[in-house]
Amino acid sequence: MSRLVVISNRVGLPDGNGPAPGGLAVAVEAAMRNREGIWFGWSGRKAEEPGPPATVQRDNLRYVLTDLHPQDFDEYYNGFANRVLWPILHYRVDLAEFNEAEFGGYQRVNEFFAERLSPLLEEDDVLWVHDYHLIPLALALRRRGHANRIGFFLHIPMPPADLITALPHHDELLRALTEYNLIGFQTENDASNFARYLTRVVGAATPDGRRYHLEDQHFRVGVFPVGVDASGFRRLAEEASLSQAAEDLRESLGGRALMVGVDRLDYSKGIVNRLDGYERFLECHPQWHNRVTCLQISPGSRQDIPEYADIDAAVSARVGHINGRFGAVSWVPLRYVARNHQRADIAMVMRHARIGLVTPLRDGMNLVAKEFVAAQDPDDPGVLILSQFAGAAAELGGALIINPHDRGALAEAMAQALRMPLKERQARHRDMYAVLEANDIRFWGPSFIDALTRPGRALNWLSNHYLSH
Ligand code: G6P
Repeated sequence: MSRLVVISNRVGLPDGNGPAPGGLAVAVEAAMRNREGIWFGWSGRKAEEPGPPATVQRDNLRYVLTDLHPQDFDEYYNGFANRVLWPILHYRVDLAEFNEAEFGGYQRVNEFFAERLSPLLEEDDVLWVHDYHLIPLALALRRRGHANRIGFFLHIPMPPADLITALPHHDELLRALTEYNLIGFQTENDASNFARYLTRVVGAATPDGRRYHLEDQHFRVGVFPVGVDASGFRRLAEEASLSQAAEDLRESLGGRALMVGVDRLDYSKGIVNRLDGYERFLECHPQWHNRVTCLQISPGSRQDIPEYADIDAAVSARVGHINGRFGAVSWVPLRYVARNHQRADIAMVMRHARIGLVTPLRDGMNLVAKEFVAAQDPDDPGVLILSQFAGAAAELGGALIINPHDRGALAEAMAQALRMPLKERQARHRDMYAVLEANDIRFWGPSFIDALTRPGRALNWLSNHYLSH
């Protein structure tokens, strides 16, 4: 079997605390388990003169990690990747702050990654590049003579063509994707948005909406929805619910029903909308006062970027407002925790919750939604309230699907979830858990690699999820 070389900005180096936060690291970590290969990416450190990449061998996997020059890091990560691509791909053109220098920094870092990766590559290695930080990487590698099969997976949404064209240099940037042999998306919606952009704006031709060609480039587009380790996460939650921390949580709740939200602190996650919905719920359903507690866990993220300081301030202000308005001497309606937690603690909290709140304004997949389902006790499961704008909504029909912009609907979904009879909760959970099992994370990596390396072969697994064959 040829080696798998994965390249991503964030690398989930196992350090005893599990993978780095964010869906990408969790998913890639699972896809690389038990495989020989290399995981290449940023070390998480800045250095005036980045030395040779550091190498860490763990079983059959070699982690190769490079530092970045502070200016490169700033222009690439804090700049073009997270202040232009992230907002635009999440449909927030209004938040995009473009400048040429940062676009240059983004390209420079992609060249730098290619230069450092190039000497490590063998002819029959299969390469898998992840996410919006590294769109031009295949082009940079092809220029260095690497003819390997290279796939790309976008973990975040791909908006409609009209929004993509708001991105300065969109043609140059997205054309670089045609250097990949396979381009994967989370949902049919993302793939068809991209397909429309390819045919209408870039002028690519397609015989079947699956294979494309542009001049002499041939590539394919496919849908590979990321899953979770359903039984593993269920076990983690089960075991963690026997811990002292679980006992402490139960005691602190004093029999009140728990609603929980777990998100990186990011404007795409709809945290403020969710809190507005909770406020409306408390306004309209006073019978639930002192009988429910909402817990929002939001570790900080990308803190050098002004929009993230804004969302931090907005969430803190809403928390203070709601507690000031509805709280009582012996009841705090909303608990807000901004620290990162061990996965076991998150799993435990989810298992204990009557409601999981996942309300992004736009999200590629949202693995928290899937983990919430996995964590539940099938005999007495909690209810998932899920935004129609999360990629996961295409799979989790058993959730209460809501529009996060409609705070009244959100409030009513909370009330409905609290009233929901056990039989209905069990049935909804059963349906969703079956979906998680059918699309378990252990299928994700192999199905992508299979599609990348055996392009002629028909794919049977979840064939309705594929545009490619
Ligand atoms: C999302 C992105 C990932 C990213 C993660 C955490 O899941 O798709 O590429 O790694 O957020 O964000 P960060 O900027 O901390 O890496």
